[in-house]
Amino acid sequence: MGQSLVIVNSADIMDEFDKQGANYSDRPVLQMAGELVGFNNGMGLLRYGPRLRAYRKHFSRFVGPNKPIQSHQPLIEEETRKFLRRTVENSGDLSHNLRKLAGSIILNLTYGYKAEDGQDKFVDLVEHHNKVFSLAAKPGVFLVDVLPWLKYLPEWLPGTGFLKLAREWRKTAEETANTPYAYTESQMAAGTALTSLVSTGLEDDEANHSPEYLRDLKWAAASMYGGGADTTVSIEYAFFLAMILFPEVQKKAQAEIDAVVGNDRLPTFADMPHLPYVNAVTTELLRWNSVAPLGVPHAAVEDSDGHINGYFIPKGAVIVTNLWNMLHDPESYPDPFKFDPERHLGPNPQRDVRKICFGFGRRICPGMHLADASVYSCIAMSLAVFNIEKALDSHGVPITPVHENTNSLISFPKPFECTIKPRSEKAYSLITEL
Ligand code: HEM
Repeated sequence: MGQSLVIVNSADIMDEFDKQGANYSDRPVLQMAGELVGFNNGMGLLRYGPRLRAYRKHFSRFVGPNKPIQSHQPLIEEETRKFLRRTVENSGDLSHNLRKLAGSIILNLTYGYKAEDGQDKFVDLVEHHNKVFSLAAKPGVFLVDVLPWLKYLPEWLPGTGFLKLAREWRKTAEETANTPYAYTESQMAAGTALTSLVSTGLEDDEANHSPEYLRDLKWAAASMYGGGADTTVSIEYAFFLAMILFPEVQKKAQAEIDAVVGNDRLPTFADMPHLPYVNAVTTELLRWNSVAPLGVPHAAVEDSDGHINGYFIPKGAVIVTNLWNMLHDPESYPDPFKFDPERHLGPNPQRDVRKICFGFGRRICPGMHLADASVYSCIAMSLAVFNIEKALDSHGVPITPVHENTNSLISFPKPFECTIKPRSEKAYSLITEL
């Protein structure tokens, strides 16, 4: 249909695009999810320009590297301890417990909101929002994504059910942006607000206050959950799968924690520099379980200046990065389906995974430092106190799960069963005395 599409399969070529990042950091227009439902207010679908820079500034100030992210370590540790406790009480609900963990951290950081134990209204709201986004943005589902003029048809015309659906979904998108934001405003008015991305933004001088500034702050905040929840859950869920499939990795990581941290306390962020193998497990998870197998599509702002890998890239071309392929390239990662943290250690580690899995250019994932911190905390604490093993079937035979991922923008390991038990009496009391 006249649309140029560039599929990038190699990390070297992605680096070429990265070097000219400003020209390749637009997003294609999605008619259903973006224009009709309104997700184009969220960072992920926002066109390249000053508004995007405003959003990214909120992120880097609050969850950027070094000081910003370090200031959130106590919160991340506290929420992870709650996760351990929930897991020991109900280990059968791993996926739900991980959602609660990621959701609680993000809602607290974004809005200063403390999620309730059990069902929580804001966690439910934002989870619903993420589901709606996946449905609306799924390629090949809505004809209007191919024939944009369909959006101008009147709603009463037969065959235009997508317009009514878009109107309903738009309400969800707006409610998700407005309701938790209004919560922070009301807490600030009462003088009881916790520091958060939104409260920091509202305290900024700039917040006196162009309507555009406030609009962008509100939608940048909504993008935290949109970008951060499913991605983190996918990696942490994959961790439990990897520990069942590669028990020798689990033993080695536990031995490192036992030697460095001991058995009398849980690992903290202060231990992180002394746990190279555990850190390599995180890196290997980011490689082995491609959270965003095809990244998020970029678009070219202008015609390419010269050629990239011999190709002229026209203005408007859509660029899809096959991150899965890059992360499983046997030249960069020999025996790519093996979960092998060692490949990231020693004097000659294999290719830097983080320069691939978080995308490229001016759209590179702005939540990567939060992702790293959340995953470290979850896996280091879980390894310290739990043994993660295969579940048994009704005859007592261990069930070996298959490593298969869902086919979606954010990809998860398909559901699997496992057994999670405290490693010892001491481990049990460490979890429950919290
Ligand atoms: C393991 C965890 C994560 C992975 C693998 C991941 C990966 C990615 C990738 C591949 C992109 C697209 C980059 C591009 O367009 O080239 C992206 C974008 C994004 N991520 Fe993440 N992400 C993770 C966690 C997070 C977290 C925790 C947050 C928020 C706190 C977050 C927020 C975002 C946002 C808002 C965007 C859109 C950025 C833009 O369009 O400018 N991500 N992420």
